[in-house]
Amino acid sequence: MTTPMMKTEVRGRVAILTIDRPKALNALNNELITQLADAMRAFDADDNIGAMVLAGSEKAFAAGADIGAMQGWSYMDVYKADYLGGDWEAIKRIRKPIIAAVAGYALGGGCELAMTCDFIIAADNAKFGQPEIKLGVIPGYGGTQRLPRAISKAKAMDLILTARMMDAEEAERAGLVSRVVPTDRVLDEAIEAATVIASMSLPSVIMAKECVNMAYEGSLNDTLMFERRNFHALFSTEDQKEGMSAFVEKRKPDFQHK
Ligand code: CAA
Repeated sequence: MTTPMMKTEVRGRVAILTIDRPKALNALNNELITQLADAMRAFDADDNIGAMVLAGSEKAFAAGADIGAMQGWSYMDVYKADYLGGDWEAIKRIRKPIIAAVAGYALGGGCELAMTCDFIIAADNAKFGQPEIKLGVIPGYGGTQRLPRAISKAKAMDLILTARMMDAEEAERAGLVSRVVPTDRVLDEAIEAATVIASMSLPSVIMAKECVNMAYEGSLNDTLMFERRNFHALFSTEDQKEGMSAFVEKRKPDFQHK
């Protein structure tokens, strides 16, 4: 029997996944990540779901990878298990959008998990950081790669080398988060954004996500072509016909997600 470390809920076409390990400030271990990845894969395959929200508690989105679990591991333990690959990496292969609703601490693997989501809505009490250097290691779940892309080399170096935390206001100024809202509003704000996304035509949502991720990860010539070809491809969907007809006929579109 595995201990549930997360909860799920469905509201309309939005799935809400909540990390629930309060005693460890939602520290992430392999079991928890597998539970998250399994739930995300199931929602990704579910035609009734159009977008997901990943949340923690008011005190912590996640305070990092579980330090107690890692403490005794050797180089060969982590290398042979490909620690932080497997289901940790599977999360970035989810095709439907995932919004991170971040309140409290998002540190180390917690900040990296939030960055693996498609965008971050932050509570005004959120604190972001990559403090791994204090443990004698470095970020291992994308922090050294995604943070400089998200907030510039200078700020990423500052955070990763000094281990200092960045509050929500600084995170918004730096471009890490898309919005900052009062802490008691963060989950509702993320669910509302996910509801808007889930009302759009799913094929165009998935292609838009893939194209933005290409911009983030690839070279400009290749990624511009990737975007244009996906734009072309959407002219084969029924939803493109419906969306454009609805605009011309001054009515709301009735998307069938095909
Ligand atoms: N792993 C395991 N347990 C953790 C944890 C973590 N990352 N973060 C917090 N906890 C546990 C604490 O051990 C404590 O447990 P006990 O009550 O059993 O002692 C409980 O959560 C509450 O934590 P604190 O008492 O420390 O709470 P605080 O309010 O005083 O401080 C904090 C909060 C500043 C977040 C502090 O807990 C902290 O610094 N945590 C570690 C942050 C960190 O270094 N994260 C990076 C981990 S390495 C990593 O993530 C690698 C990677 O790239 C994937």
